Amino acid sequence: MNVMPKNSMVQPEYSSAAKKALARRPSLFINNEWVESKTGKTIDVIDPSTRKVVSQIADASNEEIDRAVAAARQAFDDGRWTGLPPIAREQMIHKLADLITEHAEELAELEAIDNGKNAGVAAGMDIPASAGMLHYMAGWATKISGSQIDPMAAPSGAFHAYVRKEPVGVAAQIVPWNFPLIMATGKIAPALAAGCTIVLKPAEQTSLTALRLADFVVQAGFPPGVINVVTGLGETAGARLSTHPDVDKVAFTGSTEVGKIINRAATDSLKRVTLELGGKSPVVVMPDVDVESVAAGAAGAIFFNAGQICVAGSRLFAHKSVFDKVVEGVAKHADDWAPGPSLCPEYRMGPLVSDEQQKRVMGFIESGKKEGASIVKGGDSPSDAGYFVNPTILVDVNPNMKVVREEIFGPVLVAQRFDDIDEVAKAANDTLYGLGASVWTKDLSTMHRLASKIKSGSVWGNCHSMIDPALPFGGYKQSGIGREQSSTGVEAYMETKSVIIAL
Ligand code: NAI
Ligand code: MG
Repeated sequence: MNVMPKNSMVQPEYSSAAKKALARRPSLFINNEWVESKTGKTIDVIDPSTRKVVSQIADASNEEIDRAVAAARQAFDDGRWTGLPPIAREQMIHKLADLITEHAEELAELEAIDNGKNAGVAAGMDIPASAGMLHYMAGWATKISGSQIDPMAAPSGAFHAYVRKEPVGVAAQIVPWNFPLIMATGKIAPALAAGCTIVLKPAEQTSLTALRLADFVVQAGFPPGVINVVTGLGETAGARLSTHPDVDKVAFTGSTEVGKIINRAATDSLKRVTLELGGKSPVVVMPDVDVESVAAGAAGAIFFNAGQICVAGSRLFAHKSVFDKVVEGVAKHADDWAPGPSLCPEYRMGPLVSDEQQKRVMGFIESGKKEGASIVKGGDSPSDAGYFVNPTILVDVNPNMKVVREEIFGPVLVAQRFDDIDEVAKAANDTLYGLGASVWTKDLSTMHRLASKIKSGSVWGNCHSMIDPALPFGGYKQSGIGREQSSTGVEAYMETKSVIIAL
């Protein structure tokens, strides 16, 4: 079954606001000032819908990373941020969110040009979610509290003992390219609420919206050094930042491979670390469902953001009695996800982010074919104009195949049958990962039984990828360490201090 392109495969012209953002000089945001890299080294910005170089960003050297960390260190140590009344911190974080909302259209277009995701989808999802994360976390700035506790072994009234929460210090935050602005705001928001100062490094493929965010940092009134944004390569700038002795905490989202490097490196100085890594999330379909609506949901679970999402529902498990109908339904809905240029409103899905990612995903499809999988949909690219990959469904797979075991991070679904819930729980957990999972059934008992059996940080019922700032988010096993979002996400930027005073 082929996937038909909806219409034009030509990327429309950029707006004047986008052209202006692309024309800025490559520079780094340190101490509320734009500084150019002394080495003059740059990284090309490529529009994945056209494969063309459209701008350049700075590739920070060690010296510049050190400067950014020094700025954040000074801003933390002299109390210009931590020492503010919490309400002042709250208001500034809200202001930053409002500036994002005011520039929503431009930011959505930049996201589309940089990452390849559809501009309309970014305007409806990425930009409001970015502002929403800041608004949610802003409220925590004024709600941080400790507790008063009576010591167990002392006579009542002999001691005054209490627990204080204090910001951990300078946070190095390294984020990936799949949701550039959501990832950036998701990292800075809890750190700011807790009273930390920040050096943020966006992904080298997608730094444009983080740089615009830096413009808003000044407008929102943040003191210099509180939020610094440095662009650069992972192996150099990212490595320098995450191992810097003046950094107290590293927060990383990206590949499990790099997460392990960061965790290992942090051991020497015992930096605090939170990691949000890969996934191979199961989508479990029970026989009692309305197949038509579940098929649409399962298609969205894997094809949204071209499958470049850590919680992508990449392993479909459908009960054997409905398997054929579910696969047929997902294949039909795959047509809704035919990829096209990111600024064309008729598409929901764009190209993959990069040449490297397209090659990686096509390599996985080839390996699936070699190992005996059959393609029931897609498997190819609709056009060489950009890094497009058609929505793809593989059947006749087994649990030992690479396509079933490894994170593909593209629009590729592997579908398997099951018979009973113990069997499917075992199969769903047969992975190194444990980030998300969805269960589709009308039977509440089955829903809750599977929700407790599946080892993952989030389990969704009759929906997928429902991620909300008020709920903790993170992974079991090799999907990560710690939880982000919710009050737990703020705690991850705090130390706990016991104060015990003899009276
Ligand atoms: P990556 O993990 O290399 O990149 C993510 C971020 O880490 C970027 O900002 C990068 O500059 C930085 N980085 C890279 N190497 C570093 C190092 N040694 N020290 C410090 N920072 C470093 O991910 P990549 O190579 O772009 O994608 C590879 C695969 O990773 C994808 O195919 C996908 O499977 C997975 N991935 C998972 C993501 C998630 O949300 N969990 C996001 C992006 C990628
Ligand atoms: Mg990498």
